[in-house]
Amino acid sequence: MLNIVLFGPPGSGKGTQAEKLIKKYSLTHISTGDLLRSEVAAQTELGIEAKVIMDKGELVSDKIVIGMIENKLKEHGGGPGFIFDGFPRTVEQARELRNLLTDHGTKVSMVISLQVEREELMKRLVKRGEETGRSDDNAETISNRIDVYERQTIPVTYYYDKTKIHHPVEGIGKIDEIFKRIVDVVEKNK
Ligand code: AP5
Repeated sequence: MLNIVLFGPPGSGKGTQAEKLIKKYSLTHISTGDLLRSEVAAQTELGIEAKVIMDKGELVSDKIVIGMIENKLKEHGGGPGFIFDGFPRTVEQARELRNLLTDHGTKVSMVISLQVEREELMKRLVKRGEETGRSDDNAETISNRIDVYERQTIPVTYYYDKTKIHHPVEGIGKIDEIFKRIVDVVEKNK
């Protein structure tokens, strides 16, 4: 199986590039952000609880997101592979992902980490907030999402550095150019 973790700060283009990768490699897309937003839209108990946390730009508990991933792996196990978008975001989530994939007889093939600086992230997400009204795309929450990424999520890269499957990719430029850089990494390492 080809299991790709698409990693990077808020607004770095994980969702945009995941869409293109799933088409090229027939992978199943698992985005914890999308899963949580579906719960919010359906106004489930979990969604109501998660919305308060997401609107502050903080992380939803490891237990909740790991449970979601577990369900998705059960649903789609056995296909060509997965793209994990926005997960793992803590070292605990990274450890649990390894355990869950081991249970399915597979592992993370590579971690592709999009590199984009804060100013560009702010610009992209403020623009999207104005266009779509996404409730966590306002300057204050975006800024906190980036702080949370630096504090709680960057340590995940040190976890993967040890296994030598972590590949930083420049995330600035045209979407197709970035996609080509990612495909080059996938082809060399799959
Ligand atoms: P989530 O939905 O994962 O959001 P995020 O990671 O904060 O950021 P985005 O998904 O908005 O950015 P992206 O990197 O996918 O970029 P995109 O392609 O969309 O998480 C939301 C919240 O859910 C979290 O804050 C947290 O509360 C909770 N959550 C989610 N997962 C969790 C987890 N594992 N644990 C705990 N809590 C969790 O692009 C952004 C914009 O830029 C778009 O408008 C796009 O068109 C544009 N764009 C893309 N590429 C380019 C380019 N090359 N040039 C110019 N613009 C571009």
